[in-house]
Amino acid sequence: MKTTKEKVLEYLKDNNRAYVSGQEIADSLYMTRASVWKAIKALQNEGYEIDGVSNRGYRLIISADSLNKSAIDKIVSSNGIELETYLFDETESTNDRAKELAEAGKRSLVVISDYQSKGRGRRGRTFYSPKGAGLYMSFLMDTGIEAAKAAKLTAMAAVAVCRAIDRILEEISSNRGNTANSEAFCNPKIKWVNDIYLGDKKICGILTEGFSSLEEGSSSNVIVGIGINIYQPKDGFPEEIKKTAGVLLPNGYSENDLRNRLCAYVILELIGLHNSNNTSFIEEYRKRSMLIGNYVRINQFNENQNNKYAKVLGIDDECRLMVEYDDKKTEYLSSGEVSVVKY
Ligand code: BTN
Repeated sequence: MKTTKEKVLEYLKDNNRAYVSGQEIADSLYMTRASVWKAIKALQNEGYEIDGVSNRGYRLIISADSLNKSAIDKIVSSNGIELETYLFDETESTNDRAKELAEAGKRSLVVISDYQSKGRGRRGRTFYSPKGAGLYMSFLMDTGIEAAKAAKLTAMAAVAVCRAIDRILEEISSNRGNTANSEAFCNPKIKWVNDIYLGDKKICGILTEGFSSLEEGSSSNVIVGIGINIYQPKDGFPEEIKKTAGVLLPNGYSENDLRNRLCAYVILELIGLHNSNNTSFIEEYRKRSMLIGNYVRINQFNENQNNKYAKVLGIDDECRLMVEYDDKKTEYLSSGEVSVVKY
């Protein structure tokens, strides 16, 4: 039996963020306006952002999908994984926080933040990380920093994120009937080497960084930073990424506790893959690749070289991209030297 508060919340959600009057809610739910008002106040106190405008009514802006350390830890530990988690309301970059913790002598942990003021992407780019709209997390991994290993860790993280996304979309699908069969809920695909796409929009980026700890005698470290766009940012995406950036969930859809679950699933999948110490994830990486069989433009990081065009034949066990040029010559490309654009 649903409470008055739950019924009002459901009504606001079903109205897809449009304004509905208190009278309309009261009439539709067979309750008094006073109980609608009380339910709205209670929801606002719980963290739901509900806009109230006289003569228009109420509108749900975002659900109380707040990040919560104990909710994340509970899922992680009940699945037999022990990992120290650090959750911040705001930080410059979770990768930098993880590095600081490593320098303070910590090992094997994950830093999560609700907002990053200086989120970083690959090749000196910024990663837009608005509050409440995404999941920004960095794993400090207990492993060495050789370049080949770093590329594999990035691939491993991409597979882990895709699995976690599949799991969350399946949960939504079983809770919401056929909603999840809509086009918006299609499968996540990996664009070599570190991006995850839903349809033709990038919804996740991964930044793997290695560094040597300043502490005498300590080993080198790898940090795997993952940024997932979950909800449409309140003010939209910045101009420069508007055309390419996307979000995991369709406009207007929001769910309590979703980010905590997604965060825990990413931890479980990535630590599970890392602990299993085998390379079978590479086969899954290939299956999830959106490039194999397609033509790409190869952007050389060395600016003296011209861009080239090629067909992608596959991805090898070292996570290099195997391409074939028009003259049938083949080459293995490493993610440290080139980036590619599907065309
Ligand atoms: C990219 O798309 O180029 C990689 C983006 C990586 C973003 C994540 S968000 C968590 C972590 N902290 C950062 O500053 N960057 C990574």
